[in-house]
Amino acid sequence: MAPGIIEPEPAVSTERSRSLQMVTEPYDDTLRFYLNGTKVVIDSVSIDPEITLLEYLRGTGLTGTKLGCAEGGCGACTVVVSQLNPTTKKLYHASVNACLAPLVSVDGKHVITVEGIGNVKNPHPAQERIAMGSGSQCGFCTPGIVMSLYALLRNDTDPSELEVEEAFDGNLCRCTGYRPILDAAQSFSMKNSCGKAKANGGGGCCMENGNRGDKNGCGSKRTDGANGDQPIKRFTLPGFIEYNPETQLIFPPALRKHQLKPLAFGNKRKRWYRPVTLKQLLEIKSAYPSAKIIGGSTETQIEIKFKAMQYTASVYVGDIAELRQYKFNDDHLEIGGNVVLTDLEEICLKAVEHYGPVKGQPFKAIHKQIRYFAGRQIRNVGTPAGNLATASPISDLNPVFVATNTMLIAKSLDKETKIPMSQFFKGYRTTALAPDAIIASLRIPVASEKGEYLRAYKQAKRKDDDIAIVNAALRVSLNDDNRVSSVDLVYGGMAATTIAAKEAVSYLKGKKWTDPATLEGTMNALERDFDLRFGVPGGMATYRKSLALGFFYRYYHEGLSELSVKASDIDQDARGEIEREISTGKKDHEATQAYEQRILGKPNPHVAALKQCTGEAQYTDDIPVQKNELYGVMVLSTKAHAKILDVEIEAALDLPGVVEYVDCHDLPNPEANWWGAPNCDETFFAVDEVFTAGQPIGMILADSAKQAEAGARAVKVQYKDLPAIFTIEEAIAKESYFEHYRYINIGQDEGAFDENVWEEADHVFSGVVRMGGQEHFYLETQACVVVPKPEDGEMEVYSSTQNPTETQSYVSQVTGVQANKIVSKVKRLGGGFGGKETRSIQLSGICATAAKKTKRPVRCMLNRDEDMMTSGQRHPFLARWKVAVNKDGKLQALDADVFANAGWSQDLSGAVIDRGLSHIDGCYRFPNVHVRGRLAKTNTVSNTAFRGFGGPQGMFIAETYMEEIADHLGMPVEKLREINMYKPNEPTHFKQELKDWHVPLMYQQVLQSMDYNKRREAVEAYNAEHKWKKRGLAIIPTKFGISFTALFLNQAGALVHLYHDGSVLVAHGGTEMGQGLHTKMTMIAAQALGVPLSDVFISETATNTVANTSSTAASASSDLNGYAIFNACEQLNERLKPYREKLGKDAKMKELVHAAYFDRVNLSANGFYKTPDIGYVWGPNTGQMFYYFTQGVAAAEIEIDTLTGDWTCLRVDIKMDVGRSINPAIDYGQIEGAFVQGQGLFTTEESLWHRASGQLFTKGPGTYKIPGFRDIPQVMNISLLKDVEWENLRTIQRSRGVGEPPLFMGSVVFFAIRDALKAARKQYGVNDVLSLQSPATPERIRISCTDPIIKRALVEPREGEKSFFISI
Ligand SMILES: Cc1cc2nc3c(=O)[nH]c(=O)nc-3n(C[C@H](O)[C@H](O)[C@H](O)COP(=O)(O)OP(=O)(O)OC[C@H]3O[C@@H](n4cnc5c(N)ncnc54)[C@H](O)[C@@H]3O)c2cc1C
Ligand code: FES
Ligand code: FES
Repeated sequence: MAPGIIEPEPAVSTERSRSLQMVTEPYDDTLRFYLNGTKVVIDSVSIDPEITLLEYLRGTGLTGTKLGCAEGGCGACTVVVSQLNPTTKKLYHASVNACLAPLVSVDGKHVITVEGIGNVKNPHPAQERIAMGSGSQCGFCTPGIVMSLYALLRNDTDPSELEVEEAFDGNLCRCTGYRPILDAAQSFSMKNSCGKAKANGGGGCCMENGNRGDKNGCGSKRTDGANGDQPIKRFTLPGFIEYNPETQLIFPPALRKHQLKPLAFGNKRKRWYRPVTLKQLLEIKSAYPSAKIIGGSTETQIEIKFKAMQYTASVYVGDIAELRQYKFNDDHLEIGGNVVLTDLEEICLKAVEHYGPVKGQPFKAIHKQIRYFAGRQIRNVGTPAGNLATASPISDLNPVFVATNTMLIAKSLDKETKIPMSQFFKGYRTTALAPDAIIASLRIPVASEKGEYLRAYKQAKRKDDDIAIVNAALRVSLNDDNRVSSVDLVYGGMAATTIAAKEAVSYLKGKKWTDPATLEGTMNALERDFDLRFGVPGGMATYRKSLALGFFYRYYHEGLSELSVKASDIDQDARGEIEREISTGKKDHEATQAYEQRILGKPNPHVAALKQCTGEAQYTDDIPVQKNELYGVMVLSTKAHAKILDVEIEAALDLPGVVEYVDCHDLPNPEANWWGAPNCDETFFAVDEVFTAGQPIGMILADSAKQAEAGARAVKVQYKDLPAIFTIEEAIAKESYFEHYRYINIGQDEGAFDENVWEEADHVFSGVVRMGGQEHFYLETQACVVVPKPEDGEMEVYSSTQNPTETQSYVSQVTGVQANKIVSKVKRLGGGFGGKETRSIQLSGICATAAKKTKRPVRCMLNRDEDMMTSGQRHPFLARWKVAVNKDGKLQALDADVFANAGWSQDLSGAVIDRGLSHIDGCYRFPNVHVRGRLAKTNTVSNTAFRGFGGPQGMFIAETYMEEIADHLGMPVEKLREINMYKPNEPTHFKQELKDWHVPLMYQQVLQSMDYNKRREAVEAYNAEHKWKKRGLAIIPTKFGISFTALFLNQAGALVHLYHDGSVLVAHGGTEMGQGLHTKMTMIAAQALGVPLSDVFISETATNTVANTSSTAASASSDLNGYAIFNACEQLNERLKPYREKLGKDAKMKELVHAAYFDRVNLSANGFYKTPDIGYVWGPNTGQMFYYFTQGVAAAEIEIDTLTGDWTCLRVDIKMDVGRSINPAIDYGQIEGAFVQGQGLFTTEESLWHRASGQLFTKGPGTYKIPGFRDIPQVMNISLLKDVEWENLRTIQRSRGVGEPPLFMGSVVFFAIRDALKAARKQYGVNDVLSLQSPATPERIRISCTDPIIKRALVEPREGEKSFFISI
């Protein structure tokens, strides 16, 4: 939520109706449900009526269930709610988003959380397999994922592979890249249940090998034994817990007999009513028409949380069995308004069976729309009535209901009204429903036996769990001579409501469908129907129009194919949409076996994986509430650039529970307000001017989060607008830059850049590259708990930071207390990716100021939108490049001006653009290079570190000019790459020799493993045959320099204690954020000390154990901290040497320590390490920039649907050189995760700003689309380079840093899309060089095509007209 940005808006009148009281007088006021098998009874006095199920659970200490977004978009809060389903009359275990579920909705049900199904000592098989299979990195998403899998297994003991894959469509993970989770989950599926599946690297399960009918095979379903009723014993991987459906948490027998009673409870702010019969509901509505009906709450809870709507009287209708029935009638199917969507899916399938495929077309269409409707958790509670009553222009079901002429049955106490769906929507989010009426049911007519064709379509930014950009339901009835007798073309996303394409409909009536002119005429009419303006609200005018036309085009040909017409009249390729196969992938587990030592080099699972899978792992906001604690909510600027005229806080301080307000006046001195490394150019609190929307102005402190949110909203800030700059182009035009300016200038043999090259080279090509930023979208938002101590200003700061030391020093600054009294601690982060390297400090500085002022502990965990508005992103880049090249393809010179959008303050932008410049060569050798980097100063979020730190941007520029040059030269880009690829020991443009250079070798290996040349032929053949589907191929190499570019950061410390029992406690400077750092560090210590892995423990990262640490970043933390730990262990080993000699080499650590202790030997050691050799100097271009380069190559094949912009990645092969891996399981995990994150960066992830308000628009999972489970490459093969020597690598175990380097390889998907687009354009004679911006969203893919449909859809801006959104 963005307090201060949205005005509070009372939803219903608060006036009490006496008759409502009378109606509900006899209602019960006590909630009864089961929680993890235990009965819970809460009376009306103890229930907070405003609480969600998630808040309740976390409040009771069940913190395993996580808060990731509060909008149903990430699945971190997934729990299972088991109930006897009134629709199916069966027991159903529903995965549910606890963040949306009102507590009232669980009355009479069994709530199961991640803690309820297992623990570290006795995990559930789902927990164990995800943990051991590396399916959990930071672990913040994991409880939700475990619960989605658990729900699936409880409902279907033998799920198919598809069911397993689809079970996660409501869950997101930002770390793993999903493959290991899918592998673990598929071990429960029918096909893979023996665990020998090829996907898991096995020789093939009996199902795969065609032995489905084998009596003892995986396909033998549930029964065995003579009478066929005994459950079969499933095959479980050795060492793993068997999954036995019979021994699961039972549905409490008491609940089977539980009689649902009507309920009424609440306080003067909010009252809940839970009628259990339709009559009771209608009585309530009659007595109090403005009472708010709540079905699945998937719409209303979002309004409460993010729009501050107050529904003072809420009526939960989910337990009214009458609203959840369905009936097959002769000519229609009648469904209750609040049948949940999951049940509707099943009902539709039954209806198709019942009425047959022809008459059942409406149900097939509804089923299709529901398949891509939200995620399972939403579909388990969301309802058609909720979809209809919301009347959103992009509701997915509405077009189908309108096009099928569905009749809506509205009921009030004394009346039943039939409303044809075509008359239901009256305007933007308004309907024809009377205030006292409810949607009781829908009568969906079956289709005619003959001549009627109905189809539904949807296109979204992401296939799964995304709202539509445009959707449609198109229906036509043809008479015997194929003339149109009736027609409905209903669209969503084209106007403020679901609307019919009137012109097209009227044109079509009476037309002969088989006449080609009919198609043309309808397309013309559709153009008139949807004459969108360039600046249309929601943006994407051309794309939306092209979708409206494209859907009809597809529909027309799909319809035609059902008629007896000549095959040549049908555009076959326009039919059908992209469907994906079950995800699979292989890893080369043998690659690292040669380097295995006793502990190092082994694929040990993440040390905290089981804790994460069982919900025991503690994150910042899981720290129990401190005595007297306050909750803080920031007051944020609503303006992009403005003078602050006044801040009124009185109204806020007057609210119940609000305790205090802090701002810049509460700091010890004005200087204390300034922070930011290395430039210290931003303030914790705005003083008299704001420079970006989302900039903190102050913080409201209250007794609870809700009260603090209300308080923050009540703070009124008066502004005077000032001009604002958003984009890099605007900044260039206005010369709005930060001072930082860097360049690299070098010519042949380290001489000066040879300007003659421009004349002498055969060709000079130039271009502009533009690449968007990226939101970190770590699943755990920024969080902080500050605990002031009674003495000397001491303070403990627990925060989700990658940078405990900088947190400590700024808390010291804002409190005016010396650093030695401030302890900054981090147990683990729920993901960081660079977003918590510096930006976390803003929140801890503000919380510490508040704690100092109030002398009370202060907690704040940012809401997802606050996090996205305040914490910055990856830098968008723009580069103007010029390259000289000879006709043989040999590159001669590179000249480039590179700009990064830094946002309103510098943060780490200087180092980011520096890294961009150092990676702008990609993997290619230029004799002459002159590149310059500048930072655009704009009024947007302050952009910051993000995995890769400018490297991916630099390499994206490189691969883009390579692609464009190849196109200019008419040469395959693969060849251009090979011609120019660095050879071993050649120097880069910053004069660093490429030692242990394996990119050329891996390039060849990947070409081979991918069968690239054969694939190229196949792709060409495919493209020649297909008009609307094109395939593309690409292979992309990467080299990523490892080291902080700021020399002083390349150091680390460690503290190792040996205890009497032989156990070892390690502390080091790095933070654990899912990347497996603690796992690797534990292994290093265990190996070095000669103890079992289980005897080494890392508890936390804290500034009072290891001081002056560098942030955990730059992929260097294993190298730095690993050596520091090793150094400490060496010291201890030295001290223990006499005892080893005395007690023998087999003596246990316990014996050694014991003996040493009594000899008064120091059993604690402090280790230290600094990276040797490095020390680059910008300008003179001297010194070594990086310690070494991590390298890799990836090749991908993709397919695009050029009619819609939809796409899928068919396969990717990745090869990485990570040296001698410390832990291959962790390294593979990093590669998978980074690749998928990179794929998101270059495809679906697009940040947009709202032009009118200057605020970030994409500030939650609803609008910002990271890849989901079914966006990953369908086949994902990964291997590590083997059989080579790393002669120059001097890291621990000779391993290479792996966190950031694989990310850029995700761009291979982008370049494969570009390749497919080239084919699509060529088909229409367009051979010019395509300049494709990143990300390649479906919109960008579609509008890069050059077919006649996109041409007629083109919307040009009118004079002075601007787009609705801005890409910065
Ligand atoms: C993460 C997420 C993803 C989503 N994805 C999609 C998507 O892909 N496509 C899509 O179309 N929508 C989507 N939605 C929107 C939402 O889930 C749907 O609109 C859903 O159908 C709402 O149903 P509900 O029962 O949860 O509604 P609620 O939130 O309970 O209610 C919504 C409105 O309907 C009214 N209402 C409910 N029942 C009745 C009744 N019987 N009579 C009268 N009024 C009633 C309520 O008063 C309220 O005004 C998504 C929402 C979320 C949070
Ligand atoms: S927290 Fe509930 S779905 Fe994200
Ligand atoms: S492990 Fe999934 S978000 Fe980190």
